[in-house]
This record gives sequence, structure tokens and C-alpha cells, in this order.
Amino acid sequence: MEFKKIGVLTSGGDAPGMNAVIRAVTRVANAAGVETYGIFEGYQGLMDGNLVRLTGSDVSNIISKGGTMLYTARANEFKEPSGMEKALKTCKEHGIDGIIAIGGDGTFRGATDLSAHGIPTIGLTGTIDNDITATDYTVGFDTAMNTVLECVDRLRDTCESHARCSVVEVMGRDAGYIALQAGISVGAIGIVIKEFPFDEDAMMKRIIKSKKEGRRSFVVIVSEGVKDEEGKPFGEGLSKRIEEITNVETRFVRLAHIIRGGAPTLRDRLAASMMGSAAVKLLLEGKSNLVVCERNAEIVTYEINFALTLDKMYKNKLKQGDLDRFASSEIHEMEILAEVRRKEMLDMYNSAMSLM
Ligand code: F6P
Repeated sequence: MEFKKIGVLTSGGDAPGMNAVIRAVTRVANAAGVETYGIFEGYQGLMDGNLVRLTGSDVSNIISKGGTMLYTARANEFKEPSGMEKALKTCKEHGIDGIIAIGGDGTFRGATDLSAHGIPTIGLTGTIDNDITATDYTVGFDTAMNTVLECVDRLRDTCESHARCSVVEVMGRDAGYIALQAGISVGAIGIVIKEFPFDEDAMMKRIIKSKKEGRRSFVVIVSEGVKDEEGKPFGEGLSKRIEEITNVETRFVRLAHIIRGGAPTLRDRLAASMMGSAAVKLLLEGKSNLVVCERNAEIVTYEINFALTLDKMYKNKLKQGDLDRFASSEIHEMEILAEVRRKEMLDMYNSAMSLM
């Protein structure tokens, strides 16, 4: 198939580096003589026909900008047959031969549906959470963690002055990667993530002991995904208990969307540029229904359904029948990849504990 026009969209939560992907896609496609169309607000724009031609100069100077120049949205109608019908109509009317979709797992579900309806689509990971099991890295993760570092370093200054503890909640609805890696890097005395049980008693003892030894400031990092028995954010209650048990004045801080904004770091600009270029090349080679991933510092691809199912396997969310369409060799590969990820996470968590 000869490609004349391709579309690019960003969907789901935004992530620093998405603009760098849009730039790479536009530049690489244009260099190959293929027109690029920027689709606004993800699948919503695809359904509404809200798109614009992008030239190389339209994407000048966006590599350093946070957010996404194409905006983003969560479009529920796209899951319905009526939404798909509208999207296909837009592709037909504008002559869009293929799409590159940047986002997380929701974005990939949309991408695989489009591929199944005859629009070749390649997915590219853009989410600060780094929680796509098929890839070692998702665009936006490094910037988000560096923002956590900057914020917590500031909190540390004021904690040191006042002899306080800060309990800092960071994003990561389904995964604790941000909390774990940032926690290690800010020298946290406690890290709470949903992947592993938290020994609260041991952390209280560490705080009391360090306080006796003369330490004045303490930081605890809690992942947003961890809730208490009542389903409330775990960090808020923990903060009160720290004050009661250790007698260290404690403040709870929620960084929330602050860590989703800002200029992408070098790591994110580079990953975005490499993955964006790879995505266009794959599309032009006639590939479809793939997600561009990074494994062991190399760009690799997986079939989107494989990546989504692997993710469910890693997160223990597999439902009856989810594995039926896969060959036993593929299931075996998923099991190995999920196990590798679990081990990496456990090793890092154990290192974090020994550093406290
Ligand atoms: O999926 C990325 C993420 O950053 C999660 O960590 C967080 O829970 C969620 O987005 C927040 O989404 P929203 O922008 O819709 O509040």
C-alpha cells in the first residue's frame, strides 16, 4: 500500500515529550513524501473530523514544550460502533491512510480497533506512569520523576528548617514506578507502592531512631494508587499516624498534575524522537497494529493485543478467555516478560529498603 497521508493523535493523560513525538512523526513522514495531519483531542477529533495539515515548520520549536499541541481527551463514544463509523468517515473524507496514536493502554485499545477496521495504526507509549509492561520506558516518565525530585528537594529544605516530615503523594494510578524510583532518588525514609506490602511499623521505628541520632527532616513517598481500608488515599492517614507515633510534625503534600507538565528532559526528547521516527517507518513498511517499545535500550515492537494482554498478566487483571487467542509460545513469552518485570521491580524495591 502506498501512503499519501497519515494522521497523528495524542490521547489519554498527557505526558512531557508528546510534542517531540508529533515533531518526529511529522518530519520523518514529510521527508518520505507523506503528508501528516494532526488530529486534535485524540479519538474525539478523529470522530469529529477535527484535524489540520502539519508541515515541518508547524512543528518547529515544540520539542522543548510540555503538554501536547494536539490536545488530548478521553473519548468514550469511540468505544461504540457509532464512534468507529464516524472515525472511518473522517479517514475516508480526508484520505488518511494510517494513524500513529500516542498514549497509554486506553489509546492502544482504540488503535487496535482502528487497525481491525482497515486503518493501519501504530501505537506509541506516552504516559508518565511507565506502566506499559511491554516497554522498559514510556515517554514522559523521566520528566515527571525529575519534577518530583525538584519539588521534594524544596520540601526537604523547609522540613530541615522546621524539623518536619513530608508525606508526598505522586501520580501512578495503577503502578508505583514513579514513587519507587523517585523515592530512592530523594532519599526517602519510606516508600509506599501497591506492588508490595508496606511495613509501617518498621518505618516508624526508622524515623524514631534517626530522630534520636539527630536527623531533622524526613520524606515519605506514597503512590497515588495505594488506598486505606476505607478506600481513601493512604498518604493522608499515614501522615497523621507519623505525627502521633514519632512526634515529628508532618505535612501531607499531593503533587498530582504538577508532575505531568513542564519541558521534557533529554531522555524524553530522545525517546520521543527515536520512537516517533520508528513508528512512521513501520507504518510506511506496511506494518500495523503494533506498539513501539524500548527493551534493553533497543527499539522493538509488539502486536498491540499482545502488549495489552501482557500488561493484564503483569497486573493480575487477566479475565477468563483473555489468553484464548494466543498460541502457547506467545503465552510463554508473556509469562517470561511479566516475570522479568516483577523481578526488576522487586530488586529495586529491596535496594530501596536497604538504602533507608
Ligand atoms: O494515566 C496517567 C495518570 O497520570 C495517572 O497516574 C493518574 O491517576 C491519572 O493520569 C490522572 O488522570 P486525569 O488527568 O484524568 O486526572
